[in-house]
Amino acid sequence: MLNLKTGDISGLKTDAVIIPVCEDSEIHDGSDVVSLIDHTRRAKEFKGAKDDELILFDIHGIKASRVIFLGLGKIKNIDSESLRAFCGKAVKKCIRKKLDEVLIVAPSAEKLNSDIRIVLESMMEGAFLGNHIFDKYKNERKSSPIKKIEFFVDPDISKIFSELPGRVEIVCSSTILAREWVSIPSNDKTPEQLAKEMAASAGKVNLKISVFDEQKLKRLGFSAIIAVASGSSNKPRLLILKYSPKKAKKTIALVGKGVTFDSGGINLKPPGSLEDMKMDMSGAAAVAATLISAAKMKLMVGIIGAIPIVENMPSGDAARPGDIVAGYNGKTIEINNTDAEGRLILADAISYVIKEYNPDILIDVATLTGACVVALGEKIAGLFSPDDELAEKIIQSAKKTGERCWRMPLPEDYRELLKSEFADISNMSSSKWGGAITAALFLSEFIEDKRWAHIDIAGPAYTKKETDYCGAGGTGFGVRLLCDLIQKLQ
Ligand code: BES
Ligand code: ZN
Ligand code: ZN
Repeated sequence: MLNLKTGDISGLKTDAVIIPVCEDSEIHDGSDVVSLIDHTRRAKEFKGAKDDELILFDIHGIKASRVIFLGLGKIKNIDSESLRAFCGKAVKKCIRKKLDEVLIVAPSAEKLNSDIRIVLESMMEGAFLGNHIFDKYKNERKSSPIKKIEFFVDPDISKIFSELPGRVEIVCSSTILAREWVSIPSNDKTPEQLAKEMAASAGKVNLKISVFDEQKLKRLGFSAIIAVASGSSNKPRLLILKYSPKKAKKTIALVGKGVTFDSGGINLKPPGSLEDMKMDMSGAAAVAATLISAAKMKLMVGIIGAIPIVENMPSGDAARPGDIVAGYNGKTIEINNTDAEGRLILADAISYVIKEYNPDILIDVATLTGACVVALGEKIAGLFSPDDELAEKIIQSAKKTGERCWRMPLPEDYRELLKSEFADISNMSSSKWGGAITAALFLSEFIEDKRWAHIDIAGPAYTKKETDYCGAGGTGFGVRLLCDLIQKLQ
């Protein structure tokens, strides 16, 4: 669907040529493109300011039906994220116009003072992701995605980067897979159904798959997972995905929180906090989608995905506040709040991957705390890691992919907030403050000697309203971040 295109721009047939125009600087170096931009000079209403738009039809000597000039704003504000946003908005505009094919003219990286790979990659990501429409549940499908998105570049660039569109498609189609899993309502993604769906997608790229059902989880001692799941008639699963290329030197374990609906359990959430809790499996979606991408890209590192999947519901069978369970590693946990369920299922999954696979690095991704959203808002994830080198790599990947992470502390003296009178640890802090930190500290009690990072994606995993290159619903946050990180770690 994504392509690089070269040649004479006037002879290219397409529904729309899209030209990004900068307000205070010329960012193109092709003389044909620069002379097309000259057509806009007469129009007072178009200056190339951000979101300015001018459409010209049937320009003499141009085969494309229309040329759409879109403002990028001032040059100092152009970066990879604004290019993603630009292309996302451009594609959405063309979807509304019911076009089938578009050609976006890539600016000169030199003029933008940037790297051409980064410019092209960001533009392709924004366009591909902005082209996704989640309308499975609509009887009337109002719009359909653009069929062909091309990028106009110089011939030498097209040769050097011939593999780039394919790679962007792999990572972004996995991101879209994750988005859809998150957006599907909980009545259509019970743990059993979600495990099946994820396994089916993983099977297509030859990942090794095991699914533990309730009986097996009970037999093997996953008591924390069983406790969280006990209130629901939809039984839990633990999905293990394995990518093990022959020449791999390292193993990375990815653990993703998969709560298909988080009602809070007996500590029932209040109205207003329940509505979007179908998204509480976004960590699971990011992990499964990342493994699928890694397999498609044939990365050279072993990856284990451990995905505990449960529904957290209140009922006569549900875990009670005050219940004590011995998790997979034997540590006893007092469940002082049934709404702090994510850390319970993650603890069991983490203990299991460490025992079974002894990974070099362990990263968990979870919509873990509302407190993290309070701290960092809805667009930035919290990053917790005692390992400076690993944290720095994650921050670098976050900067590159636009999936922002902010490093948070793991203060030793806060550990006492998790003390229990009766068990080894409590799942609930004794303080009402610093909830994202105490949740991360709880997880850190299960990581043994492993290099570890925890990414709390409660804020950015889901959006109620559409954004520049994402529709309402799951955002697929984490997939591009983890794919980039794994390439760094291999
Ligand atoms: N799934 C929630 C966290 C969450 C909140 C995700 C908002 C996305 C948006 C998690 O299981 C939860 O309920 N956490 C509690 C923990 C508390 C009881 C210690 C929270 O954050 O309030
Ligand atoms: Zn909860
Ligand atoms: Zn939750």
